[in-house]
Amino acid sequence: MTHVYVPRTLTDAAMTAVRDLGHPVVVGGEEPPTRDALLRDVAGAVAVVCTLTERIDAEFLDAAGPGLKVVANTAVGYDNIDVPAATARGVRVTNTPGVLDGATADLTMALILAAGRRVLEGDRLLREQTPWVWGPRMLLGLDLSAGASLGVIGYGRIGRAVARRAKAFDMRILATPTSSSLTEEDRLGVRFVELPELLEQADVVTVHCPLTPATRHLIDADALRRMKSTAILVNTARGGIVDERALVAALRAGDIAGAGLDVFDGEPKVDPELLTLENAVLTPHIGSAGTATRERMCRLSVSNVAEVLAGRDPVTPVN
Ligand code: GLV
Repeated sequence: MTHVYVPRTLTDAAMTAVRDLGHPVVVGGEEPPTRDALLRDVAGAVAVVCTLTERIDAEFLDAAGPGLKVVANTAVGYDNIDVPAATARGVRVTNTPGVLDGATADLTMALILAAGRRVLEGDRLLREQTPWVWGPRMLLGLDLSAGASLGVIGYGRIGRAVARRAKAFDMRILATPTSSSLTEEDRLGVRFVELPELLEQADVVTVHCPLTPATRHLIDADALRRMKSTAILVNTARGGIVDERALVAALRAGDIAGAGLDVFDGEPKVDPELLTLENAVLTPHIGSAGTATRERMCRLSVSNVAEVLAGRDPVTPVN
């Protein structure tokens, strides 16, 4: 019988749910499989429950063969998947929107606060046993509640969850215009402005749009030049949206005050120069890494597979 291929081990409950689908299950392991293993193990699969570390392209889909019905990405972003290639082969693609907004917004706030209030610089100072004494000018940073403004690029579910949290910190909210219709509650008193104005006015710029050809290097040298020299850039979306070389140069030159990055272009590699910069706070793509959130993501992916295998529409389709 055709199998369900799970390249990366999911949570325990989700693995049980995969086994309950009634098909043989082929599981890769904790680490990402090599490309060769991926192409070998997908051969003959009816369904794939993958993560953002697997590149799902025409070669992969052809290696699967004509029996493949669904690729369920356990992530909201699906830039790792060639959706037109899947559609052309009649393969449904699904993602996991809605279940990770809070966790990602929480981490965004953590990065805003850590970069703005120089938390890691303070931590390093103590660990390095640098002599110190409280001082009126020591480690001064950005006061969120003193009228600071947050600029949200991509006012979708996650952007709005960040805006809600930022309101509780008394921040003023700017956002790039959105095509989705918003309720009064979603509006949160946000001022919608075009990107150049947002970059020029925001004290914190936070990125929450998907990575597409149109958003690759949306934050480039020109965008960084527009930002205030006291401003902070936070990216918990996808690394490719920011031109990392330009960001390193801007952080070095003091063109912006700091950055909080959870995602990197070319992950898991991180630009070695970023690692040397005191004013960059870096985390290894853990935006959705809450225990309950990961459970919900994995379960939603498996539900999507179950629906397609039962001949129904998936819960959260991409195509
Ligand atoms: C994580 O990065 C996701 O897209 O869910």
